[in-house]
Amino acid sequence: MKSYAQLYIDGQWVSPVKGGLFETVDPASEAVIAQVAAATCEDIDLAVKAARRAFDEGPWPQMSGAERAAVLRRIAEGIRERQQMLAELEVRDNGKPLPEALWDIGDTAGCFDFYADLAQGLDDQREQSVALADERFSSVARKEPVGVAGAIIPWNFPMLMAAWKVAPALAAGCSMVLKPSEMTPLTALELADIAHQAGLPAGVLNVVPGLGPDAGAPLSEHPGIDKLAFTGSVPTGSRIMQAAARDIKNISLELGGKSPFIIFDDSDIEAAVEWIMFGIFWNQGEVCSATSRVLVQRDLYEPLLQRLVEQTRSLKIGQGLEEGVLLGPLVNRGQYDKVLAAIARGQEEGATLLYGGTRPAGCDKGFFLTPAIFADVPQDSWIWNEEIFGPVVCVRPFTDEAEAVRSANDSRFGLAAAVMSADLPRAERVARKLRAGIVWINCSQPTFTEAPWGGYKQSGIGRELGEWGLNNYLETKQITRYDSQQPWGWYIK
Ligand code: NAI
Ligand code: MG
Repeated sequence: MKSYAQLYIDGQWVSPVKGGLFETVDPASEAVIAQVAAATCEDIDLAVKAARRAFDEGPWPQMSGAERAAVLRRIAEGIRERQQMLAELEVRDNGKPLPEALWDIGDTAGCFDFYADLAQGLDDQREQSVALADERFSSVARKEPVGVAGAIIPWNFPMLMAAWKVAPALAAGCSMVLKPSEMTPLTALELADIAHQAGLPAGVLNVVPGLGPDAGAPLSEHPGIDKLAFTGSVPTGSRIMQAAARDIKNISLELGGKSPFIIFDDSDIEAAVEWIMFGIFWNQGEVCSATSRVLVQRDLYEPLLQRLVEQTRSLKIGQGLEEGVLLGPLVNRGQYDKVLAAIARGQEEGATLLYGGTRPAGCDKGFFLTPAIFADVPQDSWIWNEEIFGPVVCVRPFTDEAEAVRSANDSRFGLAAAVMSADLPRAERVARKLRAGIVWINCSQPTFTEAPWGGYKQSGIGRELGEWGLNNYLETKQITRYDSQQPWGWYIK
């Protein structure tokens, strides 16, 4: 029986050892929507042991890719069958507008289908021969699952972030323990139920909601884990890397960003405004790749800002299930206070607040905020350089290409970047100069399961999605054979 008050361990719904619960809140109403099982180190230990058994003794890693693909496709189907329910649950737990949640859940199902295809492909591509210079030997390189994976995910795209880790890990043949964010744990528990009904063997996927220090930390420290995959903030990522260092766990990290968007003055102004908005207002700006630093070439600067304010003014803010809403509340009080503090700090630092940054009229409850537009933001200011993770855009003018590239690259982050120009050779040239893992030309944010995703610099290590996401969960083994009939003849002549 599924219940949000239970953990999913070893194919069963079980109460936490210590019986703890935590509350998850609807950020639009501030009402508690569910009591959720709170895992602690005792439960993490049970979950890791179950995953260990499923990997070391169970059928999953031994199955053919095609057999695993069939289960992944049933999971995708299960998600699609419940798409509306899951999207509404995501709206209530996270705050995002329903059309965005529907988009996320569609992508989540698509991600399972995509990795089902790659799992099937592994049957033909698992082993490749390696040409050796010494003809007395033959060698093959073989891909094998890395083992037991631990995944710790954030609250901004709750079910999609689960899929980005669960789908490739299962495709590879790994077993795993998934810890969703305590802010948005509900769809991950639904995923466990869907995977169970799809016939995933017991112990292959374990879902253990809980608080970061109580559940996330023991998972990252557990010696039974072979690989850790994390998405979230830089400080927590650093802590996870330190925990992984103790026993040299394989890690991948997808961390924060402060991604630049360079707009040359030959750009279409309406298109520029729309992509700026999509780049920072989608999901309330709670997006790791949000293009929060906008650089606009001088001749376009004033007219573009004016148009951006006009369009932003007309954005409908409200509860995510309400018709026409394009901006929901921020995820919780902590994030709301953090974003408000960043806006106050920007004003103190001398940036010009052109619009927004306050509680919208008529929204007395909930973590609602009018999107904030800052102009003339000083290059060395805190708001220009630090991740805010909210609907706050910072804009600066630039004169020429060299200055724009220099300013864009002047960041400790390197997750994403975007460039817009009618001059495609210029846009392509600039894209190649930007130090970021994802670069968009003439758009910002569209994300595809087929293409690699991840950051340079402090934005992370490794790549998710596409074939790169599958490789994240694979080890490479060489098997080398001595074929010569001649004795080796080194010690024994
Ligand atoms: P966080 O990085 O602390 O949380 C992400 C996940 O890590 C959650 O599941 C959390 O329970 C877990 N966690 C927390 N402490 C842990 C620990 N010591 N060991 C293992 N796991 C732990 O991020 P949080 O607190 O939700 O948000 C803080 C800020 O991080 C945001 O304001 C935003 O700036 C940034 N952030 C960035 C994200 C991204 O996708 N790049 C996603 C979420 C937040
Ligand atoms: Mg919530």
